Amino acid sequence: SSQSLFCSQACPRLLGRVGTMAASLTGLLLLQAVSWASGARPCSPRSFGYSSVVCVCNATYCDSLDPLTPPTPGTFSRYESTRSGRRMELSLGTIQANRTGTGLLLTLQPDQKFQKVKGFGGAMTDAAALNILALSPPARNLLLKSYFSEEGIEYNIIRVPMASCDFSVRTYTYDDTPDDFQLRNFSLPEEDVKLKIPLIHQALELARRPVSLFASPWTSPTWLKTNGAVNGKGSLKGQPGDLYHQTWARYFVKFLDAYAAHKLRFWAVTAENEPSAGLLSGYPFQCLGFTPEHQRDFIARDLGPALANSTHRDIRLLILDDQRLLLPHWARVVLADPEAAKYIHGLRGLQVLGAECAPGLLGPRGAVQPQHHHEPSLPRGRPIIVDIAKDTFYKQPMFYHLGHFSKFIPEGSQRVGLQASKKNGLDMVALMRPDGSAVVVVLNRSPKDVPLTIEDPAVGFVETLSPGYSIHTYVWHHQ
Ligand SMILES: *[C@@H]1O[C@H](CO)[C@@H](O)[C@H](O)[C@H]1NC(C)=O
Ligand SMILES: *[C@@H]1O[C@H](CO)[C@@H](O)[C@H](O)[C@H]1NC(C)=O
Ligand SMILES: *[C@@H]1O[C@H](CO)[C@@H](O)[C@H](O)[C@H]1NC(C)=O
Ligand SMILES: *[C@@H]1O[C@H](CO)[C@@H](O)[C@H](O)[C@H]1NC(C)=O
Repeated sequence: SSQSLFCSQACPRLLGRVGTMAASLTGLLLLQAVSWASGARPCSPRSFGYSSVVCVCNATYCDSLDPLTPPTPGTFSRYESTRSGRRMELSLGTIQANRTGTGLLLTLQPDQKFQKVKGFGGAMTDAAALNILALSPPARNLLLKSYFSEEGIEYNIIRVPMASCDFSVRTYTYDDTPDDFQLRNFSLPEEDVKLKIPLIHQALELARRPVSLFASPWTSPTWLKTNGAVNGKGSLKGQPGDLYHQTWARYFVKFLDAYAAHKLRFWAVTAENEPSAGLLSGYPFQCLGFTPEHQRDFIARDLGPALANSTHRDIRLLILDDQRLLLPHWARVVLADPEAAKYIHGLRGLQVLGAECAPGLLGPRGAVQPQHHHEPSLPRGRPIIVDIAKDTFYKQPMFYHLGHFSKFIPEGSQRVGLQASKKNGLDMVALMRPDGSAVVVVLNRSPKDVPLTIEDPAVGFVETLSPGYSIHTYVWHHQ
């Protein structure tokens, strides 16, 4: 079967012990013997009665991966996760000079270039920080390693909410003193100083890749708002260019100054999280309403100049942070104004793949439902669930699903063409990494196994099989 083309994680070690050899499998197909000592630890699976399992970690054990080493020319690496319980399991194979498969053919088109990737990451919310800090230091370290280190899925972006959001346990802003237009009472509370900032530092220390931070506000202080409340339908009082808007723009600079004093510098800020939410009456969570016209003028007259005139002038300003269906109208309105456009670097959502609410693939409802407190507003959409009482955390199928992208697609990778020979039920994407490797991710959401061949015209043919309910990442040396 096609499975026999691959060497599972254990066999390179086995073969390494036997010595350098090539095991002949099926006619032409050779298994490459690699002598390498794997430090990877397997998933400790547990079923909670859903369609797939979680991997259980505690203070002394957590599954891990080896650092990614680009395959030697002529070979490829395949990482496999399945609903049935495999989690980013590595196999190695040989690239063939001739095609032997007769099924689906996916052909890499390196000359057809699309967008470049900034990276993948998650948000350091108050709820995330409270849960992570509730673990013992060794368990916490394993959790952060799972996300950020070479043993894990190597996130390279952290989103930091500016003050409270719907993932907080209380509502606050950085200046709740009424009419403090000079922002004299602006200060970071314990949530930042004692929870988020120390964890961000720990994550940065564990990461091998450079990690980019970006910040987003949910609500302004209520004394700047038309409705005097953190939630519900409300916008900044007055008009762009006035005291309310200037104060709100200086609040961004104060925030960046305050984090810089803690040795954290940001790659970007977004102008507002979900600006359309605050236009809806009864919206339950922290918000601040902007129409695209209002945001355009606020950026052109207040926020853009305030950032440009600060020590944070190199920071990127991103807009939108909202539902995709607001595109392209929102972008057209804001970017049509050259005064606003000159300050704007991009649109969040196009620039960054947010992990705010990624649906689980291997189990439609995830594989464990959270039962702890510090409960944020979204009932699912979290790759890791912490069980504080047991000093344990559960890595959901989604964690590995995200890892199939985040670990293998570093910053600067560029999406390229991938042509399918016929209609098929697979989701797939191809990218070129800055180190010259090619990456293909194939997701099979159907119960059917799909035999397929991936062709890189510069290198040859990868013969493989996409099992039902699986996700695969392929990496090989392209040039
Ligand atoms: C931690 O997990 C490992 C592996 O699953 C298990 O053997 C060990 O008993 C666990 N430790 C505790 C304290 O639960
Ligand atoms: C591979 O295909 C080429 C033609 O494209 C042919 O000349 C060669 O004999 C084939 N090699 C094998 C081992 O089948
Ligand atoms: C604001 O700051 C001033 C001193 O700068 C202090 O006297 C006052 O108590 C603060 N107000 C609040 C509400 O923290
Ligand atoms: C820029 O900042 C300086 C002091 O930091 C201030 O005097 C000046 O008014 C600011 N200019 C703008 C356009 O905000």
